[in-house]
Amino acid sequence: MKLFIDTAKLHEIKEAYSYGIIDGVTTNPSLLKKAVKKLEAEGENISIKDYIKKVLETAQGTPVSLEVTEYTADKMIHQAKKLYEIFNPVAENVVIKIPVNPSFVDNKNRDFDGINAIRALANENIPVNCTLVFTPEQALLAAKAGATYVSPFAGRVDDYIRKNNGIVFEKSDYFPAEGWQTEEEYLDDNGIFSGIDLVEKIAALFDYYDIETEVLAASMRNVRQVREAALAGADIATIPYKVIKKLLVHDKSQEGMKNFTKDIVPEYANLTK
Ligand code: E4P
Repeated sequence: MKLFIDTAKLHEIKEAYSYGIIDGVTTNPSLLKKAVKKLEAEGENISIKDYIKKVLETAQGTPVSLEVTEYTADKMIHQAKKLYEIFNPVAENVVIKIPVNPSFVDNKNRDFDGINAIRALANENIPVNCTLVFTPEQALLAAKAGATYVSPFAGRVDDYIRKNNGIVFEKSDYFPAEGWQTEEEYLDDNGIFSGIDLVEKIAALFDYYDIETEVLAASMRNVRQVREAALAGADIATIPYKVIKKLLVHDKSQEGMKNFTKDIVPEYANLTK
């Protein structure tokens, strides 16, 4: 499984890439806002355009998702093409993020605008990461429209199920992939038992029909979710910096190191000095 970093903060991208295990970057408007706020707080004077160019260069030729901010098909297509035209020449690694369904409370009846935009961009060979995916059927339609990636939002599915059922939780708590069993039944969202269950169902569906679109498990909140996404057959997991930092941590690894260090025989250590 490939590992992407889910951030727009340049210092996080730089550090994660220095580990040699990162295969791409995903950003979204909220992540970009956080990065810009940080720059402002630090008094950094850099244009968003130059900042994004730095992100693209730092990603060393691996894909970087930039999300559109418009929400009608025509405007999303226009914006996507512009973003691609400005930024893809920097490192040939731009992927455009399009919401699967850009309809929202104040902007109804645009259910298929995302699918139309994906189709139009795919027809021009512009790679698309279809975002805000919460059902396997959304993923199927995005794939049929030509998306290169689909991003199921695992963490937000878990949040939704827990909130709807009055379960108190911390954002970083793992939610069981097999669902939470109550006395009567499992808690779910229309047959989806958890974020990882959603990832697994999309991966199975794509596998069954030999669909080439890659499953990019997004909205990852903890280390166990990354493991379960891998076991569920995700092609990629996009992971926040904080979670990447925790991927190698285990008490027993640290305890073992402490004990091995105590037991070092100086003559053995000196052999290689
Ligand atoms: C990445 O592509 C998504 O935009 C991101 O993972 C969403 O994560 P969140 O649900 O933690 O905001």
